[in-house]
Amino acid sequence: MSGKPTGATPLLRIKGVQKSFGSTHVLRGIDLDVARGEVVTIIGPSGGGKTTLLRCVNFLETYDRGSITIDGAEVGYRDGEARKRRTETDLARMRAETGMVFQLFNLFPHLTAAQNITLGLTRVRGLGRAEAGDKAMHWLKRVGLADKAGHLPSELSGGQQQRVGIARAVAMEPKILLLDEITSALDPELIGEVLDVVLSLAADGMTMLIVTHEIGFARDASHRIVFMAEGTVGAEAPPAEIFSPNQPNERLRSFLGRFSAAHRL
Ligand SMILES: Nc1ncnc2c1ncn2[C@@H]1O[C@H](COP(=O)(O)OP(=O)(O)OP(=O)(O)O)[C@@H](O)[C@H]1O
Ligand SMILES: [Mg+2]
Repeated sequence: MSGKPTGATPLLRIKGVQKSFGSTHVLRGIDLDVARGEVVTIIGPSGGGKTTLLRCVNFLETYDRGSITIDGAEVGYRDGEARKRRTETDLARMRAETGMVFQLFNLFPHLTAAQNITLGLTRVRGLGRAEAGDKAMHWLKRVGLADKAGHLPSELSGGQQQRVGIARAVAMEPKILLLDEITSALDPELIGEVLDVVLSLAADGMTMLIVTHEIGFARDASHRIVFMAEGTVGAEAPPAEIFSPNQPNERLRSFLGRFSAAHRL
């Protein structure tokens, strides 16, 4: 992806973030900025802390040290008051600024595709039923599912469910979209349709922080790729540099080597 946006202050700023689960030091001082309109993809070996980092950005997980700010406001903790948790109302308001889509489609099974999208719009955004319905249809159309509005998740394929999940997240108009391995539970033939939706959102300027094992997609969709291993950022560069045969980071080279063997990149 070309035309990396430039902005004075990054939309998302992660500084020195550390996180342990008991004696396991999972995030060991992560620094990472995402500019408005930028698509940043995190790749790296299993257990490296990618999901944990995304969950910290959404404050589904607390972090022990460092700071995470979105538009200058500290995520989870009160501004200027270190480690004082925000009120639940405040947390809910801030979480609505980050749309998160997970690996497993977590649609409400008893609600239709359209109702899955309108729920947050009426309950969290306070939209009226008609306006929420229009918005849901707009986004269903955008992900190619206008004809599935009245279907229950069980009546949709995995790829379609995941596209509803993306529509639900973007309909809330988040400042940043967090995508964690959104295609890894899909049959291979369904992966393309979901990644195409992500590419079209990127082309529209949506700010995104993506975790993926789809290395070809990372190369095509990202302004910048971050290689995370063992709780640290091992390399951070535009795709051309990350995939360069002269890539100096040996761990990254060996990680990518496995993919090139498997996928003939
Ligand atoms: N709730 C938890 N309690 C204890 N340990 C956890 C918890 N969540 C994650 N971990 C540990 O943190 C480490 C990082 O996990 P994480 O899920 O962030 O890795 P990941 O990079 O997303 O891996 P993958 O590529 O397999 O998804 C692992 O060692 C994991 O076992
Ligand atoms: Mg993960």
